[in-house]
Amino acid sequence: MATSAKKIAILGGGFAGLSSVASLKEEGGFEPVCFEKTSNLGGTWFYREEVIDGVASIMPTTIINHSKEMGALSNFPPPKELSNFMRHNELYDYAMDYFKFNDVLKHAQCNMEVMKVRRAPDYEETGRWIVTVKNTISGEEKTDIYDGVLVCVGHVNRPQMPSYPGQELFKGKILHTHSLRGVESYKGKNVVVVGMGCSALDAAVDISSVAKQQVYISTRSGAHVLQRVGPHGYPFDWTLARRFLMFLFDIIPFYIFSWLFECLYIDPQFNQKLYTVKPKDYFLSKDPVVNDHLAAHLLSGLVIQSPDIERFTEDGVIFKGDTEVTKADAVIMATGYSWKFPFLENDVIVKEEGRFNLYKCMFPTQLHHATLAVIGFILPFGPGFPVGELQCRWATQVLAGKCKLPSKEVMLKDVIDRNDYNVRRYLPNEKMSLRVDYIPYCDDIASQFGAKP
Ligand SMILES: Cc1cc2nc3c(=O)[nH]c(=O)nc-3n(C[C@H](O)[C@H](O)[C@H](O)COP(=O)(O)OP(=O)(O)OC[C@H]3O[C@@H](n4cnc5c(N)ncnc54)[C@H](O)[C@@H]3O)c2cc1C
Ligand SMILES: NC(=O)c1ccc[n+]([C@@H]2O[C@H](COP(=O)([O-])OP(=O)(O)OC[C@H]3O[C@@H](n4cnc5c(N)ncnc54)[C@H](OP(=O)(O)O)[C@@H]3O)[C@@H](O)[C@H]2O)c1
Repeated sequence: MATSAKKIAILGGGFAGLSSVASLKEEGGFEPVCFEKTSNLGGTWFYREEVIDGVASIMPTTIINHSKEMGALSNFPPPKELSNFMRHNELYDYAMDYFKFNDVLKHAQCNMEVMKVRRAPDYEETGRWIVTVKNTISGEEKTDIYDGVLVCVGHVNRPQMPSYPGQELFKGKILHTHSLRGVESYKGKNVVVVGMGCSALDAAVDISSVAKQQVYISTRSGAHVLQRVGPHGYPFDWTLARRFLMFLFDIIPFYIFSWLFECLYIDPQFNQKLYTVKPKDYFLSKDPVVNDHLAAHLLSGLVIQSPDIERFTEDGVIFKGDTEVTKADAVIMATGYSWKFPFLENDVIVKEEGRFNLYKCMFPTQLHHATLAVIGFILPFGPGFPVGELQCRWATQVLAGKCKLPSKEVMLKDVIDRNDYNVRRYLPNEKMSLRVDYIPYCDDIASQFGAKP
């Protein structure tokens, strides 16, 4: 029997992809088909021992860095017995319960890698797309036409490896945190962790828990570190992600706001200006870094903070400003990630003058039809899941034809304005135009489809 349901291809079976399916189902009138290249759904939060190119990974000890109070799915609150800051497996179970409750899983096909997404011959009229997927087990390819495409392949999945003079001489092990799982093999070893983001601090703290060795954190610019425990023992984000703070943020310049926040909130807990590498930037100029144990580990010498690496030697590294070699058995690069959309035509996600031309970080501004959106390609200053959920809901309304995007000119101006603001606020960064503040961005997206409270 012919169906008038719109066929939507959802690329990626992580939380963004599965939440997109949930949203399309809730709206009705769609036939969602979700393709996942690995053999399991859940993306980042499905813990796996093996390291897969282009698939995000977590450590066995990863704890989410926002609380369940702030990161909950809007119509599926986490059960009260779950921890405020969930371990990765608790988060996975919670989200999978939501997907099962919404009967989402039957729309997902595992071991199906999206190879190509092209405009259909009748694209100019219909906005349709041709999607080619490959069965990663049988190698068989199939191609089909879709009324819409949601790109949900994540962007924290392609390790960035810096290189230093003399690195080829080093006889120890060099790896990226993307490949780091258990820390037992570092027992009794001296380890240098490069970077001071969440991955670096998780790695350094975990490795230093294995006795009789020294762990160093090497950082070129330091970081302001927040702890999960906020004032009076409440989750820090529950205290901080507040509208009255956003109001202050609106009326005072971000650097004054940052300075006040550092003096009044961060420094009394852990004044990072006292340590070897002081943060070179304002709190609000970089991704927030969350770790509960760093301060105690620095005070007890379990972790030593050091400047950037000047060069490698056979048996260690020389930090900038040092003359002596610091012996190391392993160097772990916690130096962040880059991304790729290898299946898209080059003119879909366009980077121009350092900015991605994506309206509200989702819709390519130059396309003639609003039938392709990217979900989760964003760096929110605050919890990521509510932001992702709202993106799914707005994309659904647009695909349903219930919301219209403005003209290309208006969209491009919005992109340029966001990027210009971010250039003023953030350090130079490849993902500059993807940075958003949690509350204003949620308000903005919710307003697009009449859901702002
Ligand atoms: C260690 C770590 C900790 C994090 N902690 C937090 C946190 O505490 N809070 C927070 O908000 N965010 C956190 N993040 C960010 C994380 O990216 C988001 O939490 C969220 O999981 C992103 O979901 P996603 O579905 O967009 O991407 P992913 O989880 O990366 O899922 C993308 C999926 O797409 C699949 N895929 C990729 N290419 C293809 C293809 N060609 N064909 C088919 N399938 C494909 C992948 O296999 C994967 O399953 C963390 C990330 C990492 C790496
Ligand atoms: N527990 C958790 O929930 C958890 C754990 C891990 C990761 N995450 C999330 O995953 C994402 C990725 O985090 P991440 O820590 O892997 O990456 P990240 O936030 O991008 O941090 C990368 C770090 O590496 C440094 N760096 C980058 N290039 C370098 C170079 N060439 N030389 C020296 N240092 C370099 C950066 O320093 P500069 O600041 O000087 O650029 C920064 O300190 C983030 O969104 C994070 O929140 C969450």
